[in-house]
Amino acid sequence: MRRAITKQKLIEHLDQDLGRELQAILLYLWCRSMAFGIRGHELREILEPEIHAEVKHVEFLADKIIAMGGTPSFSVPPWKRPTTLREMLEYALSIEREAVKAYTERVDEANELGETALQVKLEELITDETEHMELLQRLVKGLSPEM
Ligand SMILES: [Fe+2]
Ligand SMILES: [Fe+2]
Repeated sequence: MRRAITKQKLIEHLDQDLGRELQAILLYLWCRSMAFGIRGHELREILEPEIHAEVKHVEFLADKIIAMGGTPSFSVPPWKRPTTLREMLEYALSIEREAVKAYTERVDEANELGETALQVKLEELITDETEHMELLQRLVKGLSPEM
């Protein structure tokens, strides 16, 4: 049987989500700096709005953690520094996939605790991350074998 979620546990999980958002931002800033050539230039332009979207997610999560009585740790899980376009895109894709999975779990937890407004907002985050994931899937799909 699944153990019932507590408010404290949900705050901890939201803090881990926040860490993953920061990880995504750092990765995208890294890729933005290290993507060279014509394709790299395209990637820089693609990542620009993504970075802003993830910053909005961080702002939301930090405010929500505080509203729920917690303190956001702003700790970032370790992350790789990819150097080829393929590694960048595949790694970013795996991070977006994780985000969709995590927010899907979080929706259930918010629902279990009767946190309806949080649940609705988390569903919006799932929509954002799914869009990011699908965009990255398209980009990975379009890579030629030597990239
Ligand atoms: Fe995000
Ligand atoms: Fe994202």
